[in-house]
Amino acid sequence: MSFTPLSYQLKRQIEEFGDHRVEIECLKDLNATIDELFGLLEKTGDTSLLEDLCPYFGVVWPSARALSHTLIKEAGLRGGSLAGLTILELGCGLAIPSLLAARLGAEITATDFHPEVPKFLEKNKVINSCPQIKYINADWRQNAEALGTFDWVIGSDILYEVQHTKQVAKVVAQTVKPTGMAIIADPARPYLQAFSDEMEALGFKGQTEVLEAFDTPLPKEIFVIRLQRH
Ligand SMILES: C[S@@+](CC[C@H](N)C(=O)[O-])C[C@H]1O[C@@H](n2cnc3c(N)ncnc32)[C@H](O)[C@@H]1O
Repeated sequence: MSFTPLSYQLKRQIEEFGDHRVEIECLKDLNATIDELFGLLEKTGDTSLLEDLCPYFGVVWPSARALSHTLIKEAGLRGGSLAGLTILELGCGLAIPSLLAARLGAEITATDFHPEVPKFLEKNKVINSCPQIKYINADWRQNAEALGTFDWVIGSDILYEVQHTKQVAKVVAQTVKPTGMAIIADPARPYLQAFSDEMEALGFKGQTEVLEAFDTPLPKEIFVIRLQRH
């Protein structure tokens, strides 16, 4: 994908999950960055890249918070650690769940397709002392077999376009080990049911939990689905 350099006004933000604290460098203003991107693309006379280059990766979405809380809960069921687990994060954006899971001892591979994500992740790995996180540029519209298979595949707010339902479901089915689990957090976007139906058709059974995650001005209800093969 070609890359459009933007000015990227940044800020530091603290995210707290119980006793765990993640400090994240993120975009100061998502809408201002989108406007700047649109302006740049408009000048070229081609706005077709707007969807692919849209900087949604650069802010903390409430679903990332709900997924992070879920990972801490899962670690609690395992004596407080995720050590011994391999975890793939899809559409990681700022990768808060990956940063947290790495701290909890898991072996993490974070993925996204936006060309700016690795730069933000490198910075946030340093800030949070998580050098061990591996990053792969991976587009879920393409075959994911090269990624290999993982004990867990996780993702937050990655079902926001109708086409994502089939694409993400296929990648999840390709990358979860036969006895593994996927955990997907979603703010009840319109395509969540279609995604669940896709996963069912691919042989997975889901269990849904509804969490409240911090958002402004009000907390948001987030659906967290744990998926395992029948
Ligand atoms: C709404 S953001 C969520 C980011 C992060 N998971 C969170 O919850 O904070 C959606 C993410 O999906 C990524 N994404 C969108 N389409 C993708 C694709 N085809 N392949 C990989 N990542 C994609 C975007 O770059 C962005 O980082």
